[in-house]
Amino acid sequence: MRISIVLGTRPEIIKFSPIVRECEHLSLDFFILHTGQHYTYNMDRLFFEQLELPEAKHNLNVGSGSHAEQTGKMLIGIEKILQEEKPDVVLVEGDTNTVVAGALAAAKLGIKVGHVEAGLRSYDREMPEEINRVLADHCSSLLFAPTEKSRRILLHEGISENKVFVTGNTVVDAVCQNLEISKKICRVHDRLGVHGGDYLLVTVHRQENVDDKKRFGGIMKGLDLLREESGLKVVYPIHPRAMKQLKVFGLQPNGVMLVEPLDYLSFLQLESNARLVLTDSGGVQEEACVMKVPCVTLRENTERPETLEVGANVLAGTEPHKIVNMAKLMLNDRANWENPFGDGKAGTKIVDILTEKCGQIE
Ligand code: UD1
Ligand code: UDP
Repeated sequence: MRISIVLGTRPEIIKFSPIVRECEHLSLDFFILHTGQHYTYNMDRLFFEQLELPEAKHNLNVGSGSHAEQTGKMLIGIEKILQEEKPDVVLVEGDTNTVVAGALAAAKLGIKVGHVEAGLRSYDREMPEEINRVLADHCSSLLFAPTEKSRRILLHEGISENKVFVTGNTVVDAVCQNLEISKKICRVHDRLGVHGGDYLLVTVHRQENVDDKKRFGGIMKGLDLLREESGLKVVYPIHPRAMKQLKVFGLQPNGVMLVEPLDYLSFLQLESNARLVLTDSGGVQEEACVMKVPCVTLRENTERPETLEVGANVLAGTEPHKIVNMAKLMLNDRANWENPFGDGKAGTKIVDILTEKCGQIE
């Protein structure tokens, strides 16, 4: 069996790393096809180096662009490589434009698609990621749902039961494989001049937040108020999209420590010792839940409802006073929930299922 792992962005590199490790461990025939959706060193290569991943065999260097432009270039490039390489299965992970392009190009060539992190739904079709999730799921032959809830969503949409497998989320594997190492080698607190428990960690990058002046402005104002009221520092490793938009809108960070996007080990260290995480990231909502750090999500909805159900996360939207109130609520909360995303063996389970089922599933 020949496997093509299609990835293109920071979270895909991180969440695929346990699967790549397992493929290497079993000496499977696989290769990485990188779309180049992310390309800046600290959004891309840094993660290959730190996670010791093999080089991508192909990089399409698609870069940034409008959704159609970016996805279209990916479709053309991926199709060509799949025709040359002839894999038996294409794996995609998550909900980015890379995912929908990888899934669609493969499905149209009659190559089986395995979707890792299948069945997540925000039910908000204004998010580009929601369209990508739905399309990728409905092109896939093997759907790796992280939780029972996501499995049920897929069945409810008419996807046949024999294609869906509950595996947990590989985000847990990545945390388990890297948190101890990060404790030993990371000096990120010294570097940033913060101490465990005296800061809030922020990540905001979603298109619907940072490309909208009112919403992004509301978040920045909320962070400023929260900093004043709580006396805690606010650290924001800022995604390049958000940095660009901050300048476009002329927003002032007012006491918020803006830092470059961090390497994974430093980010894990900072995240695991934060008093609270405020984010619109999918992966960060999950990681905070796994590492028992309370989370405030700066959105009106989430495709990770498990985090809300266990009490690890609340939705605050982007209105400044609501952000402050929700943050205060979570700052007083006790982190005694169970992690709903699995036991850290999702990568092994996914590769086992892949090797067992690949020849059988239509
Ligand atoms: C993409 C995904 C989003 C995911 C995020 C992870 C889609 C539709 N969006 O959003 O779901 O949460 O990745 O981080 O697929 N840029 C750089 N360097 C880079 C990459 C991007 O400077 O390496 C800047 C460019 O100005 C670019 C902008 O960020 O125009 C947006 O990049 P893009 O990949 O289109 O979307 P993300 O916001 O990164
Ligand atoms: N992350 C990182 N450095 C940072 C911010 C985030 O390594 O400065 C990691 C984080 O640990 C998580 C992933 O990036 O695993 C989340 O990616 P992102 O927020 O870009 O995308 P999303 O999960 O929203 O798709």
